[in-house]
Amino acid sequence: MVEPMHSSTRLEREKWMKDAKFNLFNLKSSQVYIDLLTDSGTGAMSQEQWSAIMSGDESYAGSASFYDLKNTITDLTGFEYVLPTHQGRAAENVLFSVMVKSGDIVPGNAHFDTTKGHIEFRKATAFDCTIDEAADTSIYHPFKGNLDIRKLENILDVYGKDRVPMLIVTVTCNSTGGQPVSMQNLREVREFANKYELPIIFDSARFAENAYFIKEREEGYADKDIREIVREMFSYADGMTMSAKKDGIVNIGGFIALKDEKLYKEASTFNIMFEGYLSYGGMAGRDMAALAQGLRESTTFSFLESRITQVHYLGKLLKDYDIPVQEPFGGHAIFIDALKFIPKVPKEEYVGQTLAIELYLESGVRAVEIGTLLADRDPETRENRYPKLELVRLAIPRRVYTNLHIEYIAAAMKNVYDRRDKITRGYLIMDEAPIMRHFTVELEKAGDSSL
Ligand code: F0G
Repeated sequence: MVEPMHSSTRLEREKWMKDAKFNLFNLKSSQVYIDLLTDSGTGAMSQEQWSAIMSGDESYAGSASFYDLKNTITDLTGFEYVLPTHQGRAAENVLFSVMVKSGDIVPGNAHFDTTKGHIEFRKATAFDCTIDEAADTSIYHPFKGNLDIRKLENILDVYGKDRVPMLIVTVTCNSTGGQPVSMQNLREVREFANKYELPIIFDSARFAENAYFIKEREEGYADKDIREIVREMFSYADGMTMSAKKDGIVNIGGFIALKDEKLYKEASTFNIMFEGYLSYGGMAGRDMAALAQGLRESTTFSFLESRITQVHYLGKLLKDYDIPVQEPFGGHAIFIDALKFIPKVPKEEYVGQTLAIELYLESGVRAVEIGTLLADRDPETRENRYPKLELVRLAIPRRVYTNLHIEYIAAAMKNVYDRRDKITRGYLIMDEAPIMRHFTVELEKAGDSSL
């Protein structure tokens, strides 16, 4: 599929950004030149996926496309029980309706915002137990998505096992920079969970990219096939939620897959209520057929190698310009350390958002803030939660852009970097939603901004 690109002038972008209340989500796609807002649902499907679309089975119950999807998932993960959903957060909604109740504590590695949102919506608390190295962009650690077992132990000591319904392991860990979790760590988390008889759920949006990093970086896995690695990863979990918009390489879709029949049956009722019947969830038959094929493609070494090499090419270009980036580079995106990039902007003025806006004004490249706006307010005190890292994420859609586009993005970032000393003020919130505010927040310029 080939799509046109939309170029624009700086003057036009200044007007559009102001009209969008300085929220990049409010821009029209026609106002964006290169869209790095997300790698979610923005990939290009293959010819085999488009052919699968044509032969999708739209039966309400027992669709052949569902069985193709289910068998593919069972082959890859070992999980017998599969519930399709319309996307990842829907899978969270269904599964957490069974597993999470008010007062619960859900430890994990930097839960994604919808995951945290679904936990907090149920008056439970998500505890981040990622290793400390993840919060320092300049330290090299091959698996910055790893969980710190001492932090997990500590939570169990303080709250007791009855308040902990599960552990959530996000592979790869989006919020710390698309960073992988090692097989060794997955094994240790499993041992820990066994000690307290806790189930482990993988938030699996980018599980194939995680497997690629294990193959590339972990001793003993270089000669293993991606699918063997995937199978071993999931052998340490009891179930998964999946946003298929990432490593499923489809534009919409998701699922839950589980080991345990009882949990599947409980979740089934919620799936029927919230999503749709058990053999389609929130998806059309043709979408399930395309997803089954997408999963087969994303778990090949050749696909993963070309994708991740492209992401890392962007990382290398930025690094060559001395731009502070999260290292090692993640799987789906390069994350810029905004606190180091524009240190003069006060943290109360949303440093990550300020940098993302500057990049858009400079070049029409749309990135996304992974910082204070996203971290939201403390549900109790309503104070801003300032995360240790204030990042701008350049997420690369799968199979969409060429390396020429990548070079354009890097050059645009360098232009902003060259004038970083002049960026001293950020933005103030005019209006925000009580939960997941970053999608709809409205901002205005603070003081005498550099714009
Ligand atoms: N878990 C992770 C790790 C994610 O990155 C996402 C979505 C979800 C769950 C929710 O899935 O969007 O299908 O409902 N991440 C997107 C992103 C939105 O831009 O990183 P969803």
